[in-house]
Amino acid sequence: MQNVLVIDFGGQYSQLIARRIRELRVFSELVPYDRVMEKIKAKKPSGLVFSGSPSSILSLFSDAKKTPTVDKEILELGIPILGICYGMQLITHLLDGEVTGTANNEYGKTSIDLKLNSPLFNGLAQSEICWMSHKDSVSKLPPAFKVIASTPSLPIAGIENTKKKIYGIQFHPEVIHTPSGMDILKNFLFDICGCSSSWTMVSIIENQVKEIKSKVKDGKVICALSGGVDSTVAAILVHRAVGEKLTCIFVDHGLLRMGEDVQVEKTFRDNFKINFVHIKAKDRFLSKLKGISDPEAKRKIIGTEFIRIFEEEAKKIKNADYLVQGTLYSDVIESGTRDAARIKSHHNVGGLPKDMKLKLIEPLRQLFKDEVRKLGIELGLSEEIVRRQPFPGPGLAIRIIGDVTEERLEILKMADKIVLEEIKRAGLYESIWQSFAILPGIKSVGVMGDERTYSYPIVLRAVSSEDAMTADWVRLPYEVLENLSNRIINEVEGVNRVVYDISSKPPSTIEWE
Ligand code: XMP
Repeated sequence: MQNVLVIDFGGQYSQLIARRIRELRVFSELVPYDRVMEKIKAKKPSGLVFSGSPSSILSLFSDAKKTPTVDKEILELGIPILGICYGMQLITHLLDGEVTGTANNEYGKTSIDLKLNSPLFNGLAQSEICWMSHKDSVSKLPPAFKVIASTPSLPIAGIENTKKKIYGIQFHPEVIHTPSGMDILKNFLFDICGCSSSWTMVSIIENQVKEIKSKVKDGKVICALSGGVDSTVAAILVHRAVGEKLTCIFVDHGLLRMGEDVQVEKTFRDNFKINFVHIKAKDRFLSKLKGISDPEAKRKIIGTEFIRIFEEEAKKIKNADYLVQGTLYSDVIESGTRDAARIKSHHNVGGLPKDMKLKLIEPLRQLFKDEVRKLGIELGLSEEIVRRQPFPGPGLAIRIIGDVTEERLEILKMADKIVLEEIKRAGLYESIWQSFAILPGIKSVGVMGDERTYSYPIVLRAVSSEDAMTADWVRLPYEVLENLSNRIINEVEGVNRVVYDISSKPPSTIEWE
C-alpha cells in the first residue's frame, strides 16, 4: 500500500499533516523521529514529511540530546521529502546550510512570493497567503539547493533540490489559513512522490466497535458524558459495541451555561435508550476551586474531581472498570506529549489524576472535531447535536480569569446567554466555531445614570476554525457587536464595558486559560 510517513518532531500540527494526506486519499501516519529508520524499512514509504517542532535547531549546538533530529542518511535514501517549518530548518542544518534566530518572530497570515517553476507550486499564483509560526529561519542555503519562496521579512521561505526531490517550506500548508496548502500537498504527493489517490478510510465505526468489544468482554463501562458532540459520539459508538453494559454519567459541576443541565438531560433521555445518571456536584467543584486562580491548577482540580466522581459511580455499578471519554487528538496534543510542548492541560488528558483506577476507552483519540462530526452523522445523530459549538470540559471556570466565585459565575452565565441568543438571532451560530463571553478578573470605571461605576468588563470572543488547531477571529457585523454590547451592559448587573478579542490562534488560543 502506498503511504507517506510524517516524521513527528513534536509540532502542534504533525497529526494534522497526516490527516490532510489521508484526506487526499493517500495513507499516512505519524512516526516519532527516533523510530524513523525501522518504520521506513517496514513501510517502504513513497514520501516523507518532516514536521514542525517546539524545539530550536540552534539548541543542537548547546543541548543536542534534547533537540529532535534524524540520521542524515535518511536524506540520501532517494525518498522524496517535504520539510515543514522546523522540518525545513533541520534539512538545511543536516545538509550544511545555516539556520539563525530571527529578531522578529513571525506568527499568523503572511503574503508570500512563490517561484512557479518549482514542481511544489505547480498551479499556484505567484503571490499567495500562507500561515507562519516560527522563531528561527534559514539564513544560508545548503549546497545545490534553490530558493523557491520568500516573504518581505524572510528571504528564504522555501527551498528545493529537484534532483534529490527534497523540498522545504517555512510556512504550514496543512492549516486552513494557507488557502492553497492542499494544492501544495497534492503536488508533493502526486507529482513528486508519484502517489495516486487510492486509499479509502476503513470504517472507523466497524474497527472501533470490534476493538471495544474485545477489550471490554464481560466487563461494565461508564461514559463521561457532557452533552457535547465528542462525548455523545463516543457514547453512541461504545453503546454499539457493549449495549446495556454502558452507563453514561453526566456531571453538572456548576460551571455549565445557563439551563444546560436541564437541556442535556432532556436531549439524552429523548433521543437515546442508554443508561443515564445525572450527578449534581456544583458545591463540590466550587469549594475545591475556591481561591484558585492559576489556569493549570484549575484544570487539574477539575480533571481530578471528575475522575473521583466517576470512580465513585463505577463502584456502584458492579464490575465497571472502564471509563469512556470523548478525547480528541487536539486535546491530546495541547496537553503535551513526549515531544510536543504543553499548551494547556485539557481536563480529560493532562488534568487526569496519576492514581486513577479506571481504564480509559477513547475511541476518538486520533480524530479531529470535524471528523467526529462526520462520524456522528454516520452514527445517526441529529444535525442539532452534531453542530453544537464546542464547550470546554472545565466549563466557565476557564473563562473566568482569576478566582471562580458565585458572583462572577452568575455574571458570566448571563453574559454568555446573551451572546448565544444574539449570535443565533443573527443566523451566525452554525458558521462560527465558538462564540462566547469571558470575564477577566479586573474592573474599570464607567458612568451609568450620572453615577460612577467600577465594574467588570466582558470580553467577547468569536472564532472560525476547522479543527481547533488554528483559529481566526470572526469579523462580526458591527450591528451584532453593538447589540451584544448594549444588551450585556444593560442586562447584566456588574458589567460596565464590553470588548472584542481580535486575536488569532496562534499566537493566542481560543479559550483565555
Ligand atoms: P484552545 O483554548 O486550546 O482550545 O485553543 C481548543 C479547543 O479545545 C477546547 N478546550 C477544551 N475542551 N477540555 C475540553 O473538553 C478542556 O480542558 C479544554 N480546553 C480547551 C476549547 O473550547 C476549544 O474548542
